[in-house]
Amino acid sequence: MNNNEIKYDQVRPVKWRDDALFLIDQRLLPRVHEEIVCHDVAAVAHAIREMVVRGAPAIGITAAYGVVLAARSRYQEAPDTWKQDIEADLELLANTRPTAVNLFWAIDQMRKLVQSVSTDPVKTLLQKAQAIHQADIKANHAMGKLGAALIEQPCAVLTHCNAGALATGGYGTALGVIRAAYAGKRIHQVYADETRPWLQGARLTAWELLQDGIPVTLVVEGAAAHLMKQGEVGWVIVGSDRIAANGDVANKIGTYNLAVTARYHGVKVMVVAPTTTIDMNMAEGAEIPIETRDQSELLDLQGQRIAAKGADAWNPVFDVTPAGLVDAIVTEKGVVRSPDAEKMAQLMAGS
Ligand code: MRU
Repeated sequence: MNNNEIKYDQVRPVKWRDDALFLIDQRLLPRVHEEIVCHDVAAVAHAIREMVVRGAPAIGITAAYGVVLAARSRYQEAPDTWKQDIEADLELLANTRPTAVNLFWAIDQMRKLVQSVSTDPVKTLLQKAQAIHQADIKANHAMGKLGAALIEQPCAVLTHCNAGALATGGYGTALGVIRAAYAGKRIHQVYADETRPWLQGARLTAWELLQDGIPVTLVVEGAAAHLMKQGEVGWVIVGSDRIAANGDVANKIGTYNLAVTARYHGVKVMVVAPTTTIDMNMAEGAEIPIETRDQSELLDLQGQRIAAKGADAWNPVFDVTPAGLVDAIVTEKGVVRSPDAEKMAQLMAGS
């Protein structure tokens, strides 16, 4: 890692320390910077469901550590039956959020090890969770370089939600590219959508870029077309929660709007995601389960009703951008330009 990479890499949302899991409580940022500590799998599942930790890779890493905590208590309670008993904990973790495939990928990795381990499992499982965590950070640095190299002319970029250090093991996917490209003077301005209703852009993306000294300008989602019309934005750069085998991309609701708008204005779309986000079992995006969250996230603001009494709300929190609107998918294994099923299969065959 060179000095620039270290300078632009300060935030770590998930930490294993003192035999417990520490998570930055992302619901409170940027006003309060506080960690919550999880000593058992129930606390980990609660943290994922309630958005203490969010973002596809970070959810997967957190779940992997959750399996370590589950194994610790199951093995202590019943060393003879813990391998069957832990299945209920894996189910609990899997039922927290449906869209980010990294969650299911990480649980599968840990389950395989649970099945093969023969003695006290904690050390072996912890090493695996830490390896998943470190591999994610390494992948993000690799993607940062690959994605930055696609930006030929210095330009402004627009990002959506938070696909940064906070959403991953560290450094970020979309924000990893933005960090690398900013360090290489390929980006002169970062625009971030505020990202209603959780405000991941206004609260998290803005906070973490500023932690690293990268200036950021917030816009409401509705400003995207008007912003692109100014001609300054060269790329929309986003992460993903799940990419189907044909290159369709599920990401935070509003990404599809951006991709449609970008195509109209000649702005390119880059999706940055590790191969752990690619789900070759989903032939196309229409098969990806889309999480719908509680209406209150739209109807209320900080516990106060803001919508007219009697109105209800529809709150899908992800959408699917067709592969045809994506110019490049950047993974740690390489870049897929104008993705389709054949190119995705080639990428995954090489991984
Ligand atoms: O609901 P969230 O905050 O978990 O949604 C996160 C996103 O949509 C991110 O863009 C995606 O997970 C990529 S994170 C590297």
